[in-house]
Amino acid sequence: MTEPDPLRAWRGLAGTHVLLDGFHALKHALRFGADVPVAVTADREAALALADELAPDVRGRLDALLTEVPRAAYTSLVPRPHPTEVAALAVRPARQDHLARLARTPRSAPVVVLDDPRNLGNAGAVIRLAAGFGATGVVTTGTVDPWHPAVVRGGAGLHFATAVERLTVPELPPGPVHALDPEGEDIRGLTLPDDALLAFGSERSGLSRELRARADRLVALPMRPQVSSYNLATSVAMTLYHWSAGARP
Ligand SMILES: C[S@@+](CC[C@H](N)C(=O)[O-])C[C@H]1O[C@@H](n2cnc3c(N)ncnc32)[C@H](O)[C@@H]1O
Repeated sequence: MTEPDPLRAWRGLAGTHVLLDGFHALKHALRFGADVPVAVTADREAALALADELAPDVRGRLDALLTEVPRAAYTSLVPRPHPTEVAALAVRPARQDHLARLARTPRSAPVVVLDDPRNLGNAGAVIRLAAGFGATGVVTTGTVDPWHPAVVRGGAGLHFATAVERLTVPELPPGPVHALDPEGEDIRGLTLPDDALLAFGSERSGLSRELRARADRLVALPMRPQVSSYNLATSVAMTLYHWSAGARP
């Protein structure tokens, strides 16, 4: 028996395209301009009802894109089926475009740098924060691919709302590096500049020696004695909030 067309299309694209896992990831990707050649659902009526409720702005595009496939076919396409039973594949944005956006100065919002993040969910949560605050981009160092499906899932598809790339420390874009570390200056006395690179250390070992050497300033988040550190994504949230509160008149 021949496969329905969307399944054949999916299998042809899966190796090179970004997996959008769930309704919200697809909704955000469409809102922020992703090119989505294929989208499937195990329950088209439920998916379009969600669109009516939560995303009327992209309802028409979802209606045109979403093809219903048997539930067993849907679950075979994704590593961990999502409760909304929606999945899609998007074209990964060109690295050169992102590098140009990251390098462009003057910059009106910081770049977030995650120095060798280890937890994919944390990296996704940070990308979601960066998108929400309008950061210029998120750069990761180390081995994790920031476009890994688990990171995209954690970021709710908001990779398309900012510039996400992996670079080495010597390749970081220009700008003063404000590196977050409990031993630094108290953030409450500082205004974080719009052109800053806001750098955060690895969950396991904090900032690398290489990143510390590139830092212009070490910045601390307030924390009472005997607490060792905050979670990586919550540290990014506090820092971006502090930047946003100080950046505008
Ligand atoms: C989970 S922490 C790293 C803990 C790690 N065991 C260490 O030795 O630093 C991850 C990152 O969040 C940021 N961070 C956490 N708590 C912070 C604080 N109180 N002040 C500044 N940055 C903090 C730092 O960038 C840190 O490298």
